[in-house]
Amino acid sequence: MKYLTFNHQNTSTIGIGTWHIGEGNHEKTNAEIQAMRYGLDHGINIIDTAEMYGEGLSERLVGQIIKNYHRQDLQLISKFYPFHATPKLIEESLKASLKRLQTDYLDLYLLHWRGNTPLAQTVFGLEKMVQAGLIKNWGVSNFDLSDLKELSEITNGNNCRVNEDLYNIGSRGIEYSILPWQKSHHMSFIGYSPFGSDGSEYLKIDPILIKMSQQKHITVHQLLLAWVIRNLDILSIPKTSSIEHMKANLEALEINFTSDELDLLDQIYPAPKHEIQLDTI
Ligand SMILES: NC(=O)c1ccc[n+]([C@@H]2O[C@H](COP(=O)([O-])OP(=O)(O)OC[C@H]3O[C@@H](n4cnc5c(N)ncnc54)[C@H](OP(=O)(O)O)[C@@H]3O)[C@@H](O)[C@H]2O)c1
Repeated sequence: MKYLTFNHQNTSTIGIGTWHIGEGNHEKTNAEIQAMRYGLDHGINIIDTAEMYGEGLSERLVGQIIKNYHRQDLQLISKFYPFHATPKLIEESLKASLKRLQTDYLDLYLLHWRGNTPLAQTVFGLEKMVQAGLIKNWGVSNFDLSDLKELSEITNGNNCRVNEDLYNIGSRGIEYSILPWQKSHHMSFIGYSPFGSDGSEYLKIDPILIKMSQQKHITVHQLLLAWVIRNLDILSIPKTSSIEHMKANLEALEINFTSDELDLLDQIYPAPKHEIQLDTI
């Protein structure tokens, strides 16, 4: 396993994404449990979930799995809906998530995306949950640079530990200003959907990716994941419900690129040269 400093802690370079997990039949759930356990048993120490995922089904399954591990060895992230972003509703949502997760604290609690509640109210509510010992730290998701700057000007807004945005080879918007801004503000970054989620709607696979994967004797998915974590400075959270895919994703940690390969990929999937609107899923 390769580790990075994330949320001021030694954290595996890939975490476990859990969108759509726990929603299927017995056989599918069993495969998801095997895959997650394999990942945790091979050094992954961080899991990303949300109250939205299966309206609590994902958190329930995660809770079932993590009770067999030492809680203090894992970082647990969950997220609340923007329409639960007032202090009262944050507390209610959080307590419901903790119950489903069978734990008494979260390492990180994130606003899933921005809604209509003023950020100052949300930050106030989150800080209260830190003081109550129900969360260690908090963060945001799907924030762009202007959102992050606005947040940083609010009382205690600088306590935001992480921002989680879409990041894969076809969606590189965060590279222009968000990543540098977060680095300079000591705020960790989580990149979601390294494979462009389920299907080709969000990420077009250029034939060059297929050719390069064949030359490197790896799969396209391994190439995509290895590219996201190439600098070992951000956390990527692939989701898989297959033990074979989990193994393949762990193997991707060992894949390196030559500068010629990276240049070729940059030509097809260029880095932004100016501020662009962020893609989301
Ligand atoms: N904050 C947000 O707004 C937000 C938004 C989206 C996602 N997320 C988080 O990010 C996580 C990951 O994103 P995602 O679930 O959208 O998609 P993703 O991780 O980009 O892709 C998941 C898809 O890739 C497949 N896959 C995984 N490993 C593979 C491998 N080695 N070979 C072939 N196929 C493979 C999975 O199928 P199998 O299951 O069959 O392996 C699944 O169909 C989510 O689960 C969630 O935790 C956060």
